[in-house]
Amino acid sequence: MYPLFRSHLDLAHTYWKKLVQPGDILIDATCGNGHDTLTLARLHPRLLYAIDIQPTALESAHKRLDQELSSSLLSSIKFIEGSHAQFPPQITPASVKLLVYNLGYLPGGDKATTTQSSTTLESVAKALELVVPGGAISITCYPGHEEGAREEAALLSFAEQLDKQVWSCCHHRWINRKQAPSLLLLQKDG
Ligand SMILES: C[S@@+](CC[C@H](N)C(=O)[O-])C[C@H]1O[C@@H](n2cnc3c(N)ncnc32)[C@H](O)[C@@H]1O
Repeated sequence: MYPLFRSHLDLAHTYWKKLVQPGDILIDATCGNGHDTLTLARLHPRLLYAIDIQPTALESAHKRLDQELSSSLLSSIKFIEGSHAQFPPQITPASVKLLVYNLGYLPGGDKATTTQSSTTLESVAKALELVVPGGAISITCYPGHEEGAREEAALLSFAEQLDKQVWSCCHHRWINRKQAPSLLLLQKDG
């Protein structure tokens, strides 16, 4: 069997690998346990900002990345504790090739600390300014829980309004799997 992709994460990774070149600047806006950060770090970025609001998530990610990565790949990662509603000021406009959001709550963690529609929208609106032409924002949504469904709906309405001369917006969802995770991609035309 040669499936094109098995899961939403598989699909997201395929796009990331196609887009990212060594030396790019990347942001993981929901670092969590660091699985996505690990995939991104293996694409040899110049700088990879790994943001999470929960210190325990960053500790877990740090441990994982420490074990899995060479010291040179590890040194490209800047861990930032805080909300992605504010990006670090040193990240300049039109400098980031890929921003990744994997929404929801930390697997194995406190389900109450889930991403929220209002802050996610605030963050994505700011992220639009950070993306370099030809770059993209990748957002994995989890409509299977209440806040996740609200968040996905809000993001889709937001993306539908973006100027089609500048942004190409695409939403992948499983049409035969109810409430399955979906992938929203926003690409800035080059
Ligand atoms: C589904 S998990 C991310 C999984 C992660 N990418 C991985 O590979 O393990 C979502 C993460 O978003 C974080 N989060 C929630 N609200 C946030 C916010 N406003 N800013 C930054 N991170 C936030 C949570 O702490 C949680 O770790």
